[in-house]
Amino acid sequence: MKLAFATALIGLISAGAASAQDPEEGAALFQIYCASCHGDAATGDGVMTSVLNIAVPDLTGLSRGNDGVFPRAWVVYKIDGRDPVLAHGGEMPFFGDLFEGEMTAFKTASGQPILTGAGIVSLVMWLETQQR
Ligand code: HEC
Repeated sequence: MKLAFATALIGLISAGAASAQDPEEGAALFQIYCASCHGDAATGDGVMTSVLNIAVPDLTGLSRGNDGVFPRAWVVYKIDGRDPVLAHGGEMPFFGDLFEGEMTAFKTASGQPILTGAGIVSLVMWLETQQR
């Protein structure tokens, strides 16, 4: 009885972990945390743009603006608040704390892994699929 419960629990935990880095999960997180400013399709036309006194960038052009390579590390740093320019008062809020918890290694364009929250990895993976 106890063993069955433990097995079920482990099943639950690993199911949670599996869905933790998943572009679909990332799409949902984007709608919750980012779409108000960056727009549903990440093109920079969210409802908040009318009240912000700074332009909200189109996030579907990040690869285009970086010689065709999606700037993973840059995007992660932008969201988790490690970008020092942001830390000194940009309009974009930090989500570092929000996505803390399960730290995950994420391979950057250069092959160097960086550590960040699993939710951020999912979100950035989704954003990468939206590049055009
Ligand atoms: C309150 C509005 C707002 C929200 C919410 C917001 N952003 Fe931003 N974001 C901005 C603004 C304004 C900028 C441009 C200024 C700057 O870089 O700080 C920006 C810049 C960025 C950049 C840099 C783009 C570039 O061209 O270099 C990325 C990447 C980004 N946001 C991703 C996200 C993600 C992912 C989320 C959700 C977790 C998010 N943003 C939520 C307003 C917002």
